[in-house]
Amino acid sequence: MRIYDIIMKKRDNEELSKEEIKFFIDGYTDDSIHDYHASALLMAIFLNKMNERETIDLTEAIMHSGETIDLSNIEGIKVDKHSTGGVGDTTTLILAPLVASLGIKFAKMSGRGLGHTGGTIDKLESIKGFHTSLSTEDFIKNVNDINVAVIGQTKNIAPADKKLYSLRDVTATVDNISLIASSIMSKKLAAGSDAIVLDVKVGSGAFVKNYEDAVELATLMVKIGEGMGRRTMAVISEMAQPLGNAIGNAIEVIEAVDILKNEGPDDLRELCLTLGANLVVMAKKADTFEDAYNLLEEQLSNGEALKYFENLIDAQGGETNFINNYDSLPKAKFIEEVFPLKEGYIKTIESDDVGIASLILGAGRENLEDEIDHAAGIYILKKIGDYVTTDEPMAIFYTNKESSIKDAKKRFHSAFEYSDESIEHPKLIKAIVSKDGVTKFK
Ligand code: URA
Ligand code: CA
Repeated sequence: MRIYDIIMKKRDNEELSKEEIKFFIDGYTDDSIHDYHASALLMAIFLNKMNERETIDLTEAIMHSGETIDLSNIEGIKVDKHSTGGVGDTTTLILAPLVASLGIKFAKMSGRGLGHTGGTIDKLESIKGFHTSLSTEDFIKNVNDINVAVIGQTKNIAPADKKLYSLRDVTATVDNISLIASSIMSKKLAAGSDAIVLDVKVGSGAFVKNYEDAVELATLMVKIGEGMGRRTMAVISEMAQPLGNAIGNAIEVIEAVDILKNEGPDDLRELCLTLGANLVVMAKKADTFEDAYNLLEEQLSNGEALKYFENLIDAQGGETNFINNYDSLPKAKFIEEVFPLKEGYIKTIESDDVGIASLILGAGRENLEDEIDHAAGIYILKKIGDYVTTDEPMAIFYTNKESSIKDAKKRFHSAFEYSDESIEHPKLIKAIVSKDGVTKFK
């Protein structure tokens, strides 16, 4: 087999065989196939697309390019969640203990933040003593003992995806549905859980900008997961604005604990309950979505979910006193109120720009080796549909780098557009996609 022939075949809009796809992924992983070959093939795939069968074969080949995790020593149904990437998305911190509190096993591998999106591991590291580098044995032991553990993604999961993703990023081949679906699902499948819920974001701040594309992507990922013997569902959620009010690390931990105390912002709460209810159904702890949703609401109001959060923090070395005293979390030296530049209803918010403003304040990193400031971030007080005036703050900035405030403000303000006419508050949950089809939310 020659990579040249495979590139030519896709260039001429022909279907690639399973063997050809595997030859490409194996060769690219062991460096016998070069970046220039892979670039040409990715562009041919981007332009001529892959069918469902090719996409499933691509996912399988990427999944087997590295280690696959064996969770068979954990009893019961193991669940996992993936988001296609949001700003201020604190769901894992809430969802993991919430679902675990119903006796469901949540063995979670999470990432760090890069660019304008944050990462669960960084957020958790705001907590004194908390560590995420557990051995596989301890990871499995913790999930068996307290139903939940969160660790950093091991280097060996889907190495082909790491290389392909970097290459797609610089060759304008990111936003192809087959390439996105195989990238996400290869990692989820390698991580070993039995049931997966996917949070597919749609909107200006997301990979997919319109509803139809989001349904297509979600449907494809559900098919891939189910085809590999894993229960898979997807929630399509609007990414018109950051989720909740907090964007950063320590402040997102506070927001998560607020929700677990049955307080906190409604949008974040609704998303966690919706994602969670799908997991509860797939883990067979409830028969219907509504029953599952009610069960989870109960776990928020009776304090059980919060208890499992405390167990999770304690089991991974973290000090838990911050749960009742937020002052013990990292605190910023500079706290600045930010006022709107004009009056009106907020019409749009470019989430990416808000994420970048938070990064400028110190909450994110440009490169994976950069240090982040756990205290830094943005607390948004006004969101889409709210009326703002120039004498009432719309956000609060937190930073230890006073000199960053001016640039962060400029970026932050560029994210907002206003209207004189009233604007509706956007609906968060658009649809749920399962192997049985699409359920649209009204
Ligand atoms: N997230 C991923 O992991 N891969 C993609 O291609 C897009 C989003
Ligand atoms: Ca948030």
